[in-house]
Amino acid sequence: MKIYVEDNYQKLSKKAAYILASQIRLKPDSVLGLATGDTPLGMYRELVAMHQREDLDFREIKTFNLDEYYGLEKENPQSYHYYMMENLFKHVNIRKENIHIPDGEASDIEEACSRYEGLIRQAGGIDLQVLGIGRNGHIGFNEPDVKFEATTHLVHLDADTIQANARFFDSIDKVPTQAISMGIKTIMQAKKIVLLASGHEKREIVQKALEGKILPELPASVLQLHNDVVVILDQKAAGEL
Ligand code: GLP
Repeated sequence: MKIYVEDNYQKLSKKAAYILASQIRLKPDSVLGLATGDTPLGMYRELVAMHQREDLDFREIKTFNLDEYYGLEKENPQSYHYYMMENLFKHVNIRKENIHIPDGEASDIEEACSRYEGLIRQAGGIDLQVLGIGRNGHIGFNEPDVKFEATTHLVHLDADTIQANARFFDSIDKVPTQAISMGIKTIMQAKKIVLLASGHEKREIVQKALEGKILPELPASVLQLHNDVVVILDQKAAGEL
């Protein structure tokens, strides 16, 4: 595991964007696994700037997002479809057919999940997976007491996650209680993983995930078993690491 500690959020974002841009330049048809939440926003801004300034080319890039709320329409501004369109896809030259996000409106959930896994395999697997980390140590929406062998599946969100994400909704009871998420196995099959964490409130969980025991109670701790993980933290999230 390689850990970078950057002075602040802006530098963290630039470092993450640089790693993604290098991946895109070295392998223009890379398969990227993408994350949502506040943490990667700066990275997406940098990537959009690199596309506009330096012609960073997304034409052959394929993407698979980690997760989507279950029961929200794609057009809902709180959906991860909407987030990805607004923050990255509509600003770069990615092809629509190369964008994949779990279907939060699927009626046959099992079929939708196994189709998603099939599409990842068909694309040749994920070359680089970006991750954030939840306050409770979740990655994607894999909540504590996770099954490490799970692939894409329907998850029930923890009370803590619902509370943490309530800031994006009008009220806490508008936050969906379920989501479709890549499983830990899907994430661990990525060839390379980049984990981002910023701010004081992530410090304790980051330390436990990187230095503590590998336990299903702390889903991100499984990353210690992956052989190519880059962690990018700002000083507030790194603490004493
Ligand atoms: C969300 C997402 C995760 C994300 C995490 C942290 O619930 N499902 O993919 O990494 O929570 O979000 P943030 O970066 O806003 O702290």
